[in-house]
Amino acid sequence: MLQGKRILLIIGGGIAAYKVLELIRRLREEGASLRVVMTKAAKEFVTPLSVASLSGTKVFDDLFSLTDETEIGHIQLSRAADLVVVAPATGDLIAKMTHGLADDLASTLLLATDKKILLAPAMNIRMWLNPATARNVAQLRGDGVLFAGPEDGEMACGEYGPGRMSEPHAILAAIRVALESNTSIPLPGRLLSGRRVVVTSGPTREPIDPVRFLGNYSSGKQGHAIAAAAAQAGAEVVLVSGPVALPDPSGITVRHVATATEMLAAVEKGLPADIFIGAAAVSDWRVAQVAEQKLKKAERAPVLSLVENPDILAGVAAGGKARLVVGFAAETENVIEHARVKLAHKHCDVIVANDVSAGVMGDDENQVTIVTRENAETWPRMRKDQVATKLIAYLAARLGGIRG
Ligand SMILES: Cc1cc2nc3c(=O)[nH]c(=O)nc-3n(C[C@H](O)[C@H](O)[C@H](O)COP(=O)(O)O)c2cc1C
Repeated sequence: MLQGKRILLIIGGGIAAYKVLELIRRLREEGASLRVVMTKAAKEFVTPLSVASLSGTKVFDDLFSLTDETEIGHIQLSRAADLVVVAPATGDLIAKMTHGLADDLASTLLLATDKKILLAPAMNIRMWLNPATARNVAQLRGDGVLFAGPEDGEMACGEYGPGRMSEPHAILAAIRVALESNTSIPLPGRLLSGRRVVVTSGPTREPIDPVRFLGNYSSGKQGHAIAAAAAQAGAEVVLVSGPVALPDPSGITVRHVATATEMLAAVEKGLPADIFIGAAAVSDWRVAQVAEQKLKKAERAPVLSLVENPDILAGVAAGGKARLVVGFAAETENVIEHARVKLAHKHCDVIVANDVSAGVMGDDENQVTIVTRENAETWPRMRKDQVATKLIAYLAARLGGIRG
C-alpha cells in the first residue's frame, strides 16, 4: 500500500498518456496522495478534465500562473513529494532533463526537485534507439534517476521493439520499490558509470519430460536486487534470469532463460563486461535423456540418469571476458570453507557465501560473507537490496583498483 505517500506525477506528451489514467486510478486506490502536472503536449493526448476527475485534484500546467505561485510555488511543488514520477517520459523530457533545461513547469520542477525521480519512458523504437536518447538515458541513470521500462512490444505506430511504456501495474511496482529503497544505503550515482555488468539470477529448470523439471528454491530476489543496484550506480546491466516470480527490474536489459545451457548462451552473448556476477542457482546436473512424451506412471518408478551441466562461473573466469568475476556459494554447512574451495577451483575473484540452511532462499533478508584470496569479511544480516547496494559499492571500489 502507498497510504500517505506523496507522489508528484508529471504527464508528458505521448500516445501512452492514456495509460496514465489507469495508473492514477491505481495510485489513488492504494492511498497515495497525488499532485499532477501536465505538459502542453500532454494535453493534446488526454484532457486535464479527465486527469483532474480521476486524480481528484487540480492539474498544474503553467509555470507562470500567479494563483499557483501564491497557492503553492513551483519550488514547493517540486519538493513536497516523496517521489516524482514522469509517465510517459517523452524523448523530449528525457533530453531536457539530461541537459538541465527548464522552459516549462514540468522541466522546471524536474530541475528543482531534491527528490528521487522515476521515469517511465514511452516513444517510437527509433526515438528510443537513437544514440542521442541512449546517451541521455545513460547519463540520467548515472545521475541516479530511476527507470521503469520501456518494454518491447507493438507500438501505436505499428512498429515492434523497445519503447513501449510499461503497463500501469509494472510502473506501480517500480514506484513501490523506489519508495521502499528510500531507507537503503545511499549509492553514489556514478559509481559504475560507463561500466558493463552481467548478472545471473534465479534458478534454472532442467526438463525431465514436457511437464516436469529439476529445479531449486532460488527466488531471484538477491540477483535481481544486485542488477537493480548496478543500474542505479550507472552501469549498463544485462540480467540473465531463470524462471522467477519477480518483475523485471526497470531500465536494464533482461534475458529470460530456463536451463543452464540457455543461461550460459545468454551470458556469453552479454560478455565482455567489467563485472560478471553469478548469483543464479544453476543446476549442477540435467537429465541425460529428456522424454519427448510425459512419463507414465508404471509399476516401477523411472530412474533418471543425470549428466553435468556447463559450469558458467568457471567458464566466465577462464574465458577472460570479465575483469572481475563474482560467484555465489549457497551452502548448508561449513560455508566459508566451501566458499574458499570454490574460489580456488573456479578461479574467480570474489565469492559471496551465504548459509541457505537458514531459510534464506525466498526470504527478503540475507547474511553473507565476502570471500577473496586475501580474506573473508562477514556482513551483518540485512535486506537483500541493502546487501546488493553494499556489494556494488564494494565491487566498484575493487574494480577501481584493477588496471585497464
Ligand atoms: C501523435 C503523436 C504521438 C506522439 N507520441 C510520442 C511518444 O510516444 N513519445 C515521445 O517521446 N514523443 C511523442 N510525440 C512527440 C511529442 O509529443 C513532442 O516531442 C512534444 O514536444 C513532447 O512534449 P513534452 O515532452 O513537453 O511532453 C508524439 C507526437 C505526436 C503528434
